[in-house]
Amino acid sequence: MATKALILSGGKGTRLRPITHTSAKQLVPIANKPILFYGIEAIREAGIRDIGIIVGDTANEIKAAVGDGSKFDVKVTYIQQEAPLGLAHAVKIARDFIGKDRFVVYLGDNLIIDGIAGFVKRFEANKPNSQILLAHVPNPQNFGVAELDGERVVRLVEKPKEPKTDLALVGVYMFDETIFEACEAIKPSWRGELEITDAIQYLIDRGCDVQFQIISGWWKDTGKLEDMLEANRMLLERIEHKVEGDIDETSRIDGRVVLERGTVIRNSVLRGPLIIGANSKIIDSYIGPFTSISYSCEVKSSEIEHSIILENSRIVEVRGRIESSLIGKNVVIEKHSQLPKAYKFMIGDNSRVELF
Ligand code: TTP
Repeated sequence: MATKALILSGGKGTRLRPITHTSAKQLVPIANKPILFYGIEAIREAGIRDIGIIVGDTANEIKAAVGDGSKFDVKVTYIQQEAPLGLAHAVKIARDFIGKDRFVVYLGDNLIIDGIAGFVKRFEANKPNSQILLAHVPNPQNFGVAELDGERVVRLVEKPKEPKTDLALVGVYMFDETIFEACEAIKPSWRGELEITDAIQYLIDRGCDVQFQIISGWWKDTGKLEDMLEANRMLLERIEHKVEGDIDETSRIDGRVVLERGTVIRNSVLRGPLIIGANSKIIDSYIGPFTSISYSCEVKSSEIEHSIILENSRIVEVRGRIESSLIGKNVVIEKHSQLPKAYKFMIGDNSRVELF
C-alpha cells in the first residue's frame, strides 16, 4: 500500500490579516513561489503522489493555483472542510480519501527546508501507528511540546506555561488508520477545535506505537509576518544568480539576484540575495537583501529591503526606506504633491502601518 499525504490548507489565518481577508495564507509567495508549493514538492520528493488537500473558505484560490496536481507530477483530491474546526477535524474528514493507507499530514503553511523524504522512509520502514517530528526551539511555550521517556513519547502539551522540554512539534505528522479512532473519540478543546495533539495523546494513552524523530534542519511555521520574512530570508540565501531582465548601464548589481523575464532595471542598485518577478520595473531605486518582489510591480525612487511585495503593486517616491514589510497585491504606496503635506491612507481592516 502506498503512503498518501494530506495537506491542510483551510484555517482562518487570523495572524496574517489583512492578507488573509482576501487570499489564502498558503499561497503567499516566499522567494516568489507559494509556500504551499514547497510542501507539495517535498511530499513528491518523498515518493508520495496521492495527495488530499483540505480546503476552507479559500478553496477556489487554492484549486486555481494547484489544479489537479499534474504540474507537480502528483494527483490531488480536494476535501472541503465546512469550518476550521481543528487539525484533528481536518484529518477526520479525510477518512474516505485515506482509506486504510498510511499517511503524512503536512500543514500547508509550514516550510521544511531539507524536505521530508528521510522521515517518510523511516515511517514506512518501522510502521509505527504514528511518527511525529520534533525540533529544539528557544521558546517552547509557544508550541505543542513533547515529553519523552527514552525512545518513547509520553506526553504532548499544547503551549505549556512551564515546558518540561524544548522539543516542539513540527507541522508534519505521520499516521496509520488508528488516528481516525482517536479523532472520533476526542472532544473539542477550550478554543473549540479538535486538536491533533489530543488525538496523538489518545494514541499514546492507549499504548499505540508513537515514535519521534528530531529534525535538525531549518523549518518554520509561517503563520505570522515575522516568520514569513524569515522563511523568505532562508530561501533567498539559497537562490542561484539568474538574470533574464534588462538592466541599463547606470544600474549596479551586487551579490546573487534573480531577475525574471521582462524585468526592467533603470538607474538602480540591487543588492542580493533578492528576486524580482516577471515584468516588474525598478527605477531610480535601491532593492536590498532578502527582498522578494512579485510580478508586474513597479518600484520608483524608493528603497526596499527584507520584504515581500506581492503582484501588481506600485511603490513610488517613498522617502524612507521600506523594510521588514509584507505588502499585498495591487497595493499603491506613493508620494502626493498637493497641500496639505499629510499622510493619506486607504487601508483594509486589521492592517498595520508603522511610521517613523
Ligand atoms: P493554524 O496556523 O494553526 O491555524 P489558522 O490557519 O486558522 O491560523 P491562525 O491561528 O492565524 O488563525 O493552521 C495550520 C495549518 O492548518 C494552516 O495551513 C491552516 C490549516 N488548517 C486547516 O486546514 N483546518 C483547520 O481546521 C485548521 C485549524 C487549520
